[in-house]
Amino acid sequence: MKPNKINQQRVNTMLFEIIRTENYEDMSKIAAKRVIGKVQQKPDAVLGLATGSTPEGLYKEFIKDHKENGTSYEKVNTVNLDEYMGLDRNDKNSYFTFMREKLFNHIDIDLENTNVPNGMVSDMEAEAKRYEEHIKEIGGIDLQILGIGHNGHIGFNEPGTSFDSRTHVIELAESTREANSRYFHSIDEVPTHAITMGIQSIMDSKEIILLASGAGKAEAMKKLVYGEITEDFPASALRLHKKVTIIADKDALQLI
Ligand code: F6R
Repeated sequence: MKPNKINQQRVNTMLFEIIRTENYEDMSKIAAKRVIGKVQQKPDAVLGLATGSTPEGLYKEFIKDHKENGTSYEKVNTVNLDEYMGLDRNDKNSYFTFMREKLFNHIDIDLENTNVPNGMVSDMEAEAKRYEEHIKEIGGIDLQILGIGHNGHIGFNEPGTSFDSRTHVIELAESTREANSRYFHSIDEVPTHAITMGIQSIMDSKEIILLASGAGKAEAMKKLVYGEITEDFPASALRLHKKVTIIADKDALQLI
């Protein structure tokens, strides 16, 4: 990995450090360099992880670096943001399976140290409480990776979610189900509900990296950087966090 050769442009706002990259590959490489740096500096770091298309390149970079440079995840704990409700953990569309296939099965992480909320338990309130307590027990999240929904969701915190929220069950917005139906045979198969870390759970992370790629995210990124801080646009809570870095490609940042 030679990130110094990557064409990147820094934009300073009062609120976020924004790294604008040429394309998706560079976004993934620059983000990977930061996260790997954190793991090297703190081998027992707690990483908050996301699913979806955006971090797939980042996870590929972790795997490549692990194989080539031997960065170890033996002592790392991970906490995922969310999981669909009612999908078996072994379903190809569950985030449990996504994480194993895209990352965990290819690095030396102890699977016991990986956490994805369980969308199949009958007592969801107990599961949400257990998840929050576990995050505390392992020392809180050192570095949280986020993507962003077109409607500004982070995790599955859809518009209207309280900034005080902790892990909870949420009804997915129709636009989220539509966007995610690309992984399923039809929209009818996309679960209607999910369990997600809350906005406050995300805000408690010591540091946050938000990734975005493609023109489809441009409006959301504009609102994130310049819009109002409001529960109607969940990602805007990040403007109240001390240490957020946005790493995004130029298409996603075309309105900034
Ligand atoms: C996934 C998650 C979501 C996604 C967002 C963007 O764990 O929490 O907030 O980050 O829906 O998804 P992609 O990356 O597929 O555009």
